[in-house]
Amino acid sequence: MTRAKCIFCPVTRRAAASNQAQRLADFCRGNDTTALVVEGEALPLLRRIPAATVDCVMTSPPYWGHRAYAAGGLGQERAPKEYVDALVAHAIEIARVLKPTGSFWLNLGDSYRDKCLAGIPWRTALRLVDEVGFVLRNEVVWHKVKGGPDTARDKLRNVHEQLFHFVRQRRGYFYDADAVRSRPRTARVEQGAIVSATGVRGVRYRRQLELSTALSPSEKSRALAALASILEDVRAGRLADFRMIIRSQQRTTHSDSALVSGRARELARDGFYFLRYHPGGSKPGDVWDILPEDSQHRAAHFAPFPADLCRIPILATAPPGGLVLDPFCGTGTTLAVAATLGRRALGLELAPTYAGLARERIAAAIAHPPKR
Ligand SMILES: C[S@@+](CC[C@H](N)C(=O)[O-])C[C@H]1O[C@@H](n2cnc3c(N)ncnc32)[C@H](O)[C@@H]1O
Repeated sequence: MTRAKCIFCPVTRRAAASNQAQRLADFCRGNDTTALVVEGEALPLLRRIPAATVDCVMTSPPYWGHRAYAAGGLGQERAPKEYVDALVAHAIEIARVLKPTGSFWLNLGDSYRDKCLAGIPWRTALRLVDEVGFVLRNEVVWHKVKGGPDTARDKLRNVHEQLFHFVRQRRGYFYDADAVRSRPRTARVEQGAIVSATGVRGVRYRRQLELSTALSPSEKSRALAALASILEDVRAGRLADFRMIIRSQQRTTHSDSALVSGRARELARDGFYFLRYHPGGSKPGDVWDILPEDSQHRAAHFAPFPADLCRIPILATAPPGGLVLDPFCGTGTTLAVAATLGRRALGLELAPTYAGLARERIAAAIAHPPKR
């Protein structure tokens, strides 16, 4: 006679947990390129992930006091401190599962209580630094451009959220800045003169040098030679663009004290210096204008974040083929983006309906990758 399996039986529960732990360990240590979405509470599931196996975590936990999701979960705590305590407990596990070279990107919005902004994002970020030992590399302001409706007559509309970038170690973490540079326009030649990507020709600098009363004759001739050489770098494609700072001509943005600024020392010593622009283009800044997700996904889930919010984090901090984890994956935006960018993807999600949507969405994203 076979006995029916009872999910309340401790033996069956232990066996299921150990199967799940084995499945997570096999996935994280293996090289399966099919994304895996596991249903359940993030914290116990995180504890089953082997240490130092994940390259990049990108996530947006439920915000405090905003709304109850299909299966409840995080965000229903009575006070901000309890909510931040819970995030800290998750972050301890995230630090453990990340490789030493890994990155953790945390998107958080704020909440009001008794008309007072709770300051949840920064309360959390500081505790992750002070108590978990994360190194905070960037606070990105996600400017939502449109923002949601706001009927309050006594405060401004809220149109931003934070995205924090944490790493485990100060140096030597994986970061591919070239993967996220904006493609520069190329230099061209006009009437025999080189014109840089933004229209710098060198003629104006040459005239300023020739007419300068702040440079000695020998400084002028060295500066003119350096200008000719940098224009040659632009012509040869070694440099996309540059600016020349000439003593007493251009306004500087650094300190004038040669004691604290290397640039000020160069200006005092040589009478000029160059700002060289990377040939691969410029790095993104820390304010991102991205419209909130308003496609069909919003109908199925309250708060999917836009795919564009995950692109820079994944491209810059997850190596190709590396493992990206979203412990609150919802409809699977992070996982779908990771999969289309050639990264392995693992999601944890409490609500089975959202986990199902995530699986469908990943399959659709792989079948029809977005055109760029
Ligand atoms: C802000 S949403 C994430 C949305 C996701 N970024 C997307 O693009 O769809 C947070 C998700 O966390 C889930 N959740 C809440 N508490 C959880 C818990 N303790 N463990 C795992 N998931 C949880 C919710 O069901 C919800 O889908």
